Amino acid sequence: MQLKTLALAATAVATAAAQFQNLPPGYTNRTKPRPFSTFGFNIIYQPDYHHNIIYPRIVELDCGVILATASLNTTPGVFPVFRSKDGGASWTWFSNITDQHNGLGMDAQPALGPVLPAAVGDWPAGTILASGNSWGNSSGFIDLYGSKDKGKTWQYISNVAKGAGLGGGLNLTGDTNGNHIFEPTIWYDNGTVGVFYSDERDPAHSQKLSHQVSTDLVNWGPVVDDVAFPRWSDRPGMTTVAYVPPLKQYILTHEYPGGESWNGENYPVHYRLSSSPWAFNNATSIPLSVNGRQAGSSPTVVWTPAGGPNGTIIVSDATYSDVFMNRFAGQPDMWEAHAIAQPDGYSRALHVMRHNPDHIMIMGAAHWPGADVPGAVRPLSVTVFSVEETLRRPPRDAYPVNRYW
Ligand SMILES: *[C@@H]1O[C@H](CO)[C@@H](O)[C@H](O)[C@H]1NC(C)=O
Ligand SMILES: *[C@@H]1O[C@H](CO)[C@@H](O)[C@H](O)[C@H]1NC(C)=O
Ligand SMILES: *[C@@H]1O[C@H](CO)[C@@H](O)[C@H](O)[C@H]1NC(C)=O
Ligand SMILES: *[C@@H]1O[C@H](CO)[C@@H](O)[C@H](O)[C@H]1NC(C)=O
Ligand SMILES: *[C@@H]1O[C@H](CO)[C@@H](O)[C@H](O)[C@H]1NC(C)=O
Ligand SMILES: *[C@@H]1O[C@H](CO)[C@@H](O)[C@H](O)[C@H]1NC(C)=O
Ligand SMILES: *[C@@H]1O[C@H](CO)[C@@H](O)[C@H](O)[C@H]1NC(C)=O
Repeated sequence: MQLKTLALAATAVATAAAQFQNLPPGYTNRTKPRPFSTFGFNIIYQPDYHHNIIYPRIVELDCGVILATASLNTTPGVFPVFRSKDGGASWTWFSNITDQHNGLGMDAQPALGPVLPAAVGDWPAGTILASGNSWGNSSGFIDLYGSKDKGKTWQYISNVAKGAGLGGGLNLTGDTNGNHIFEPTIWYDNGTVGVFYSDERDPAHSQKLSHQVSTDLVNWGPVVDDVAFPRWSDRPGMTTVAYVPPLKQYILTHEYPGGESWNGENYPVHYRLSSSPWAFNNATSIPLSVNGRQAGSSPTVVWTPAGGPNGTIIVSDATYSDVFMNRFAGQPDMWEAHAIAQPDGYSRALHVMRHNPDHIMIMGAAHWPGADVPGAVRPLSVTVFSVEETLRRPPRDAYPVNRYW
């Protein structure tokens, strides 16, 4: 999307819980979740008044430990890493991913995972990859980081891409071809690691989606287009990717400012299918809608084998608290919107639980761009829901609900 609220960074350390006015139902008297169960709206971390937390990401290690991170506006910015050993029921602040290379911070839009299934370059199987945007006044860097010790420490690996900086200022009202890069996502396929990101540097496009690949994590190939529309002002953004085995295809979700909007949605969610994760550019962007309501803004996607012979593709957006589910391998007219216990939020993270793919973890925090109502700082929170149980309930067609604050 656009720029994060870097200018709001404060120096106070996040400790005290904020005072709220309109509390969401169940906020004050939630019961403690049982380990490895399903549960709703479990609070991981509550920033104080001077901070906000937004844009969470999740990775699960082979041993079942879950790590989560998000963008926290400390000065300098760090990506806090929270750890759960019990399926998301309880969490501790375990480590931080810090900028070790640019003298800046880790300021926005973290990527976390995958865990390398095989060695790549000098980095052994089991390495957890991470990325994010490290932003200064004159440059912005999408760098790759790795952890060889299950997330306790993080080391700089290499720079993937460089874009414009913030110019000492912040412009939330628009960012038209400012040469920035945003929103990395890391993908592993057969010995190759790719980093997808939103890209304003091509003069032919206000913004397009690009990726670069590496087979040693040090040398990165040329910028390859994934979604680049012919109309200059179109701004596809925010790639996430999943593999859909029954189709033998990969799905890429993106928001699409400039795309057809028939219900006032300015960031309608679209998706593409391709037989290679490195070749989405010739695929068609399909709008994700249910009964004329379009999913909107900062989509994320996973596929789970649960839910039927085709498994289920699950997409989260920012406009609705509901998730969008498709048991027909992405067939455009077969999406259903289903209620879950997680409030809506900007770029919520989705994760299929390794021990039980019927269990989907969804994590959220602030709305764009950080604090919703003055004085109301939303926590980082997590829900685990059952695919089968959710699909048994009738779909409810994307009612825009759960705007608690
Ligand atoms: C807990 O929350 C529910 C629903 O929000 C409410 O009906 C109930 O009275 C609350 N219980 C206590 C002990 O606060
Ligand atoms: C992470 O960073 C925060 C903010 O800078 C700091 O207060 C905290 O001590 C750090 N935690 C760890 C585990 O490094
Ligand atoms: C970036 O620019 C802002 C506003 O001009 C200034 O306050 C800040 O010191 C600059 N930061 C660096 C690292 O130069
Ligand atoms: C912010 O961006 C908008 C749209 O591009 C532009 O009209 C406005 O002048 C910019 N504001 C600043 C302070 O640069
Ligand atoms: C995986 O990579 C190897 C080595 O580059 C190649 O020979 C093989 O064909 C690839 N397999 C698939 C399924 O792409
Ligand atoms: C897209 O199609 C064009 C024309 O057929 C071809 O030249 C190009 O290599 C294709 N790009 C990808 C990424 O498959
Ligand atoms: C699986 O998906 C395909 C492709 O959309 C569809 O034709 C088929 O009916 C689906 N099968 C089931 C059992 O849902």
